[in-house]
Amino acid sequence: MSLLSSPAYAEHLPPVFAGMNRAGSVGKTTVGYNVCVQAALRGYRCLLIDADLQSDASYWSGWDGDFVPEGVATVHDVMLGRAKLPDATVPARTRVGAGDDDSSFLNIEGLDVVRGDKTMSQADSELTQDPRGVFWLQLALKNQIEAGQYDFIFIDCPASLGRLSISLLLAATDVIVCMKPTRKEMRGAAALAAEIEKARYEYQDFGVTTQVSFYLMNEAKKHDSQGKFYRIIQKEAEEKFGDMLLPLVGSAVFVPEAYDAQEALAYWDPNAPIVGTFNTILDRLGFPAKPAA
Ligand SMILES: Nc1ncnc2c1ncn2[C@@H]1O[C@H](COP(=O)(O)OP(=O)(O)OP(=O)(O)O)[C@@H](O)[C@H]1O
Ligand SMILES: [Mg+2]
Repeated sequence: MSLLSSPAYAEHLPPVFAGMNRAGSVGKTTVGYNVCVQAALRGYRCLLIDADLQSDASYWSGWDGDFVPEGVATVHDVMLGRAKLPDATVPARTRVGAGDDDSSFLNIEGLDVVRGDKTMSQADSELTQDPRGVFWLQLALKNQIEAGQYDFIFIDCPASLGRLSISLLLAATDVIVCMKPTRKEMRGAAALAAEIEKARYEYQDFGVTTQVSFYLMNEAKKHDSQGKFYRIIQKEAEEKFGDMLLPLVGSAVFVPEAYDAQEALAYWDPNAPIVGTFNTILDRLGFPAKPAA
């Protein structure tokens, strides 16, 4: 039996994953962005929606949400109904040279990004005034994505459980709860799971079937010498989450450097263990390597 939920609110949609935790800096963007890149390298078509005001997924994709040129549509315009999703969508890129013109980047074929925007900082209050309110993304996906256009959609979420996050939750079919091996993030995971249960109940009449499908532990430790406490928490997570726990993601010192350089990890070092782990995660999510043509 698949662990994935089916998108009851729109049968034509592929799985819509959301990487979430109310705790910050747990690796939501690092995992989400690189898993999408590696899915594209495997030949899948993916849409990454950058809904975080920090727009880290966009920055890593070669588009800076802090400096959006006049007239360019972003996720914020989609949220406010000023633009359609395809208008705010750009190809993901990885940096191949210095500078900011198009020749400095290589398009990653198969991966599209809905551009993030620092103005999403106003989203929680704006959503209380918008008649579509918390359903803005669910409606945009339902009405503005064509059948068969993507193999999966991934929402990069902010670290909060505010109104914006609830709206992202309602658009997702499968939540991946991201954590680090410490108590703070484990508590955040439990709070999120409870919030999802509550949302499913409150919005059941709107076809919401969002479920926690997977737990993911980032910056996991291999040896007790790296910190015995982390290993205790990892074991606790393995026992608690069982099959729902994705392969543990280890630390790699070059992750922040690759982000800074706007280079996806699979391009930075295709043989790095963390790249192999993300491929194993893709297998578990149901997107295995395709046989060579
Ligand atoms: N596996 C890893 N190894 C080393 N550093 C990592 C790893 N994963 C993430 N980092 C670093 O940890 C920091 C937080 O990661 P990331 O931005 O992916 O987390 P996040 O949950 O998206 O954060 P936020 O809540 O701010 O959106 C970043 O500086 C990132 O480069
Ligand atoms: Mg992030």
